[in-house]
Amino acid sequence: MNYNIAVIPGDGTGPEVTTEAVKVLHAVGKSHNISFEFTHYDLGGERYLKTGELISDNIIEELRQTHCILLGAIGHPEVRPGILEQGILLRLRFALDLYINLRPVILLPGVYTPLKDKGPQDIDFVVIRENSEGAYVGSGGFFKKGTPDEIAVQESINTRKGVERCIRYAFDYCMKRDKKRHVTLCAKTNVLTYESDLWYRVFQEVAQEYPDISTDYQHVDALCMWMIKSPERYDVIVTNNMFGDIITDIGAIIQGGLGIAAGGNIHPGGPAMFEPIGGSAPKYTGLGKINPMAAIYAAQMMLEYLGEIRAAEDLFQAIAAVVRDDLESLEAGKMGYTTAEVGDLVVNKLEGSASRS
Ligand code: IPM
Ligand code: MN
Repeated sequence: MNYNIAVIPGDGTGPEVTTEAVKVLHAVGKSHNISFEFTHYDLGGERYLKTGELISDNIIEELRQTHCILLGAIGHPEVRPGILEQGILLRLRFALDLYINLRPVILLPGVYTPLKDKGPQDIDFVVIRENSEGAYVGSGGFFKKGTPDEIAVQESINTRKGVERCIRYAFDYCMKRDKKRHVTLCAKTNVLTYESDLWYRVFQEVAQEYPDISTDYQHVDALCMWMIKSPERYDVIVTNNMFGDIITDIGAIIQGGLGIAAGGNIHPGGPAMFEPIGGSAPKYTGLGKINPMAAIYAAQMMLEYLGEIRAAEDLFQAIAAVVRDDLESLEAGKMGYTTAEVGDLVVNKLEGSASRS
């Protein structure tokens, strides 16, 4: 099979980590008869500062024609916060209707977690974050801006369709994942009496169609506490865009941090975008110190999404082996290897397993 993959290295350390992800994909492709054609797009802060362009409609159309998109990082110290995030990252999520943000929270053996007495058997769940609605749609405005009477309104938009497709995806994913067969709805029904009410009702309805899955409900604040105290209770968590953003930062840190956390922006059946969750890390740019594992993990998720299950499994095992046997830490500058060497270690594991099989 031949895949067209768009690569958006982006800002800061984005290019360094995507280089390693691309290297690893070539290697895994070789042993599984998969070839990739990578098209690079130089979107990001540098281009914006030079040309004023964020992302053009033409590029959006080109990306629509690809199989998947691999994103490095978006964010530049000289660009006001929000411009690049909204103009590129959120624009892509909305334009391609990538309505699922899939964020695994899996602690691999040998990885440090700040949770005392918790290990890989305890931290193994996924967060399904709604990715196309809620507070992220940019609905609202100012009134009397800059005056003492100023009013700021930011609306959270929740459509029946949007909520339902997200919840349905979570239940389907839970069946496919086939672990605890448990879905937790995370919302705030005691305060958000409209939006969380809709989520709650749709959740109950959809759950009826999945008699093999047990369910529970948690308020988002309590869930933040339980994610730290008892992460083992989770299998699949489904939630809205904003709560999903917040709780997946907790997820990232308990699974070993930004050196490993990855996610997928998905519209089932269409091109999806995979990314390391960490940012552009300006202070590490160009030093070869950043850990590319999160970007490599994003590539692994991409293989799984593309249906290349055996390749995805091999790459997962290679990632697990490198973090278990080789890396001293997942933190930038403390890995015991350079960025490129970490990519090479993964490639070597892949080649080792290919020659054994
Ligand atoms: C994320 C990020 C983005 C978000 C920012 C950069 C807009 O925090 O992907 O989690 O809030 O969705
Ligand atoms: Mn976030």
